[in-house]
Amino acid sequence: MKLAIHHRPNSFSDRWIAYCEENNISYKLVNCYKNDIIQQVNECNALLWHHHHGDFKDVITAKKILFSLEHAGIKVFPDFKTSWHFDDKVAQKYLLEAIAAPLVPSFVFYDKQEALDWAEKTCYPKVFKLKGGAGSANVKLIRSRSQCFKLIHKAFGKGFRQFDSWEHLKEVYSKYKSKKASFKNVLGGIYRIVVSKEFAHQMPREKGYVYFQEFIPNNDSDIRIIVIGNKAFALKRMVRKDDFRASGSGRIIYEKNQIDERCVQIAFETNNKINAQSIAYDFVFDEKKQPLIVEISYGFSVAAYDQCEGYWDNELNWFEGKFNPQEWMIEEVLR
Ligand SMILES: Nc1ncnc2c1ncn2[C@@H]1O[C@H](COP(=O)(O)OP(=O)(O)O)[C@@H](O)[C@H]1O
Ligand SMILES: [Mg+2]
Repeated sequence: MKLAIHHRPNSFSDRWIAYCEENNISYKLVNCYKNDIIQQVNECNALLWHHHHGDFKDVITAKKILFSLEHAGIKVFPDFKTSWHFDDKVAQKYLLEAIAAPLVPSFVFYDKQEALDWAEKTCYPKVFKLKGGAGSANVKLIRSRSQCFKLIHKAFGKGFRQFDSWEHLKEVYSKYKSKKASFKNVLGGIYRIVVSKEFAHQMPREKGYVYFQEFIPNNDSDIRIIVIGNKAFALKRMVRKDDFRASGSGRIIYEKNQIDERCVQIAFETNNKINAQSIAYDFVFDEKKQPLIVEISYGFSVAAYDQCEGYWDNELNWFEGKFNPQEWMIEEVLR
């Protein structure tokens, strides 16, 4: 067995490479951006690539390359069932509805008039989301009909940028105030207003659809459960001050007793239906305290989970102690 690994510093691949070195697993570094990537992988049995939604090259190449190889019988990470819906909340709505997973009630429209008619009759608040993005960047609370109408006009007009530099600056500034970002980060945010990110120009504007979710009130946090094979680990993320959004807040709680194990159970059940190698499931709780899935993602930050106290197996037995999720990914590929 020989693995091909596309290396990106500070991604899963750092640990994949270390694991191969330590365990004498044969591997080769490949460059997925080169024309001959399929030939590069030729003598290998598998390709692993931690592609990122914020890297434009990854966005336009990764799924095509990974799924082509998978089509031809090569093992890949992430595979089709794990990642066809990655960074696409609308795709996740269809998938989670299709497998009858407990998704927050979600609404998508591709017709402006239909969206306006819905907005006229529905109750508020609602949550507006772009299909892509992370760290709560493209998630907004809609408090009124007129605010909703405005968004619908924009969605079917000039559309939205994937990266909003003003929102980014606001986020960095509020993190600076709560000592979670440095002054240099604030300067970086100001710089981004003047010189926008290359990614912001490359990504097409989001338009021609509009996506909402029912607002699930009174959540001071969300719960993220990550399932890899038959193991799962979790953390709780507190919402930002005076905000309903937890993802990206940096306010993380790792204690096991803070995690509602019903979420672990649902994540295993849902992952079995999706048949995925590795997925993070984000939950909030409705007024009857029932867990609901907000979104799913194969990708997650590398270091944030090192402080977890342990993990569960798929029978919800708890194993205390340190672990390395990236090694489990390789085990999934070698299985
Ligand atoms: N429908 C909802 N009701 C209440 N809170 C929500 C809802 N959707 C998302 N949130 C909150 O907003 C955060 C960001 O939303 P999410 O869809 O996970 O976007 P991102 O991909 O940016 O993480 C979540 O972590 C959760 O705290
Ligand atoms: Mg999220």
